[in-house]
This record gives sequence, structure tokens and C-alpha cells, in this order.
Amino acid sequence: MGTQDYLQFSRKESGVRLCANVLIVASPKHAEAIDWTGESDAMPGLVVLPCENTAAVPLDAATAASLIVLEVDPHNRRSMDRLAELKHKLPGQPVVAALPDASVALVRMLVREGVDDVVSLPFKFEELLETVADVLAQHRRRRTGELRLAPLFAVVGSIGGCGATSIASHLAAALAENETSGRGVAIIDLDLQFGAVADNMAAAGRGTVADLLGAEERLDEDLMRSVARPVIDGVHVFAAPEAIMPLESVETDRLLRMLDLIRQHYAYVVLDLPSNWTNWSLSALSTATSVMMVVELSVASLRQARRRLDLFSSVGIEGDEVQLVVNRVERRLFKTIDVGDASATLGRPVLGSVTLEDPLVSTAQDQGLLVKQVSRKSKFNADIQAISKILAERFAAGGPA
Ligand SMILES: Nc1ncnc2c1ncn2[C@@H]1O[C@H](COP(=O)(O)OP(=O)(O)OP(=O)(O)O)[C@@H](O)[C@H]1O
Ligand SMILES: [Mg+2]
Repeated sequence: MGTQDYLQFSRKESGVRLCANVLIVASPKHAEAIDWTGESDAMPGLVVLPCENTAAVPLDAATAASLIVLEVDPHNRRSMDRLAELKHKLPGQPVVAALPDASVALVRMLVREGVDDVVSLPFKFEELLETVADVLAQHRRRRTGELRLAPLFAVVGSIGGCGATSIASHLAAALAENETSGRGVAIIDLDLQFGAVADNMAAAGRGTVADLLGAEERLDEDLMRSVARPVIDGVHVFAAPEAIMPLESVETDRLLRMLDLIRQHYAYVVLDLPSNWTNWSLSALSTATSVMMVVELSVASLRQARRRLDLFSSVGIEGDEVQLVVNRVERRLFKTIDVGDASATLGRPVLGSVTLEDPLVSTAQDQGLLVKQVSRKSKFNADIQAISKILAERFAAGGPA
């Protein structure tokens, strides 16, 4: 990953939310006027379907879309019937109505018909981008509530080797230890090329996240359970694929469906992410309940953390739920940089700090064990327990009421 990708991501605010498949169904006049050359990176999943505004919307295209922007003529009964039919056939599908000028009364009427929002015609890129991003975010929030999805904790590294994977796997175990619903904790290794969670935790089995990402309509609870690899204490590992998987082969919609499915069946879900950022990994991150940026007390780590936090902000991942976890902290009296400096430099709260325990952590991992299985009195373990406690107090476990 190079600077190029960062530039692409930061080109448009909210760009990441629009990795979703957006279908515009508009009359040829308005469809043909869409010429957003140069903007297509910000909406890679955009499909424009020219279609008279009374003609039926093809159901297969509509079903494949995450959101439909539908041209509506409120003064034409057949156009309104078409909207009603679409809402009837795909009741859960977000729909944005497009029309030349919408009065307040008209917007109200369209909302009553099940429309989520309205954009003006001719289409304006910025307006569309913003409206679609908002509607998708609202739907996702609603679905999270309805499905009682488990909290998703994403652990991201500032620089390579800063300990993100070690913290993610031990955090999953700590959450599971104190979890009483019996639903267990899932850790998903999305470091699709170099993932080591399964090795570090000696999670035996054959299934990997690639099986779930490639499953399409076969993706269901049974398949998910067949891929989950149980390790100790109610932790299930969703392993990275054995063979290196091309990062561009991941489809964001499938990945988000997989995450939703796993979140429906566990009490907590922990996500380990690759250090290279792609549209899909940012999209996954944008659905997280809490993001933990692992930093070390070094200039290099803090500098890279800054760049990544800026990247996250540029795609709307910011606010209170992005926090720091300071790793490899040494209890020395004199330090050039301390935990407070990290927080002040990055303008983020510190969720917790984790002690350097060398070679205990790597020795345990080399044997496929957790630190607590090797040493009962480890500071590393106590530090992770403290972080897990804060998270569990803040975010109730997922699952039926
Ligand atoms: N607090 C710690 N004390 C001692 N060793 C640690 C600590 N945290 C991590 N390590 C060790 O540092 C090494 C790198 O850790 P890890 O693989 O978790 O980092 P990462 O950020 O996930 O790396 P990558 O960028 O490759 O994904 C491992 O050998 C691990 O055992
Ligand atoms: Mg890692």
C-alpha cells in the first residue's frame, strides 16, 4: 500500500460509505446527463440504469443494490405506482427519490410512501454522495438495533509489528472469560494475506473467512458455524485463508454481510485488520462499535498513527469510539515519550496501556498458547483484562433480550 491509496481514500469525504452498490434508475434525459468522470473512485459501486419513469424497475438489479435512487414524478400516477410496487416487493431496501423540485409537502408525501430521502434533479454528485451515505448509515444503525448485533471491536495497528494481533486475540479471550451468556466471542482475522490469529491461538480446522466471503447465497448460520474454530474459553476464531488472497478480490457487500451474520450469533466480535488499508477494510472499520488504534511510544509509531487517524477521519470514522491502546509500555521512571504524550499528540483518549513482556508474549504465541496459559501473573494479561472490562461495561453483549 502506498500514498496513492491514501490519496484516493481522502479525495471525498464519506467516500467509504459509498463502496455500497448504488443503483440510479432515471429517465434517459437525467441518466445520460450523469458524467462524473474522475468522481468514480468515490462511488465505485454506482450503476446508472436509464429507464422511463413509469417503466417497471428490473427486480434483479434492484435486489443486488444496497440502495436505489429512483426518479419519481409525483404528478404521474403510474410513476407513483412504480414506487409503491418497488417498496412492496423490496420492503427493506433503502430508496431515495429523485425529482426536480420537492416542496416540504411533497417530501412528506414521499416519506409516507416509504422513501428514505429525496435528491434534486438534475443529479448533483455532492448532494447524492451525502444523501446516500446518510441513508445507508441510518439503515445500518436501525438494522444493528433490530438484529441486536454484537458489539464489534476493531483493533488496528499504527505500524507493522506494534502488537495489534496479539492485543486482539488476548482481548477476545479476556472478553470471553467474563462473558456469561454462553454465546462466546468471535475473533475474525481479516489480515487476509498474512493473518496469524489461528496459528497464535492454535485454532485447528480448515474453514477460513474466504469460505464465507465466497459463499454468496449459501452464507448462513450453518456455514458460519462450520468455519468457526473453537479455541479455549468460548473463543471462536474465523481464520485468515491459508493461501494468500488478492486484496482486491474482496467484495465489500459480502464482507459486511459476513460481519453482520457473525455479530448476530456471538456476544462480542473482535476484528483483526491488515496494516494496509483498502476500501473494504475501511468499510468494515466504519461498522465497528469501537476502534482501537495500537501505538507504541515511538515517534515512528505516533507519526503513522496520525496518518491513519487522518485517513479514518476523512471517511467519517472518528469521534469518541476511536481510542488508543498503548503497547509495549515499560515501567521506567524516565521516558522520552509517555502515555499522556501519545494521547496529547494524537488528540485521542487512551483506552488502556499494555506492558512489554518480552519474551513471554512471543513465547506463548509460538506454542499456540495465550499468555495466561503460560504465566498466571502476567502484567500483559492484567492490562488486557482491564481493557476488556472497560469495553464490556460500556457495551452490553449482543444477543436476544
Ligand atoms: N506487549 C508485548 N510484549 C512483548 N511482546 C509483544 C507485545 N505485544 C506484541 N508482542 C510481540 O510482538 C510481535 C508482533 O506482534 P503482533 O504480530 O501482534 O503485531 P501486529 O501489529 O499484529 O503485526 P503485523 O503488522 O505484522 O500485523 C509478536 O512476536 C508478539 O508476540
Ligand atoms: Mg497483525
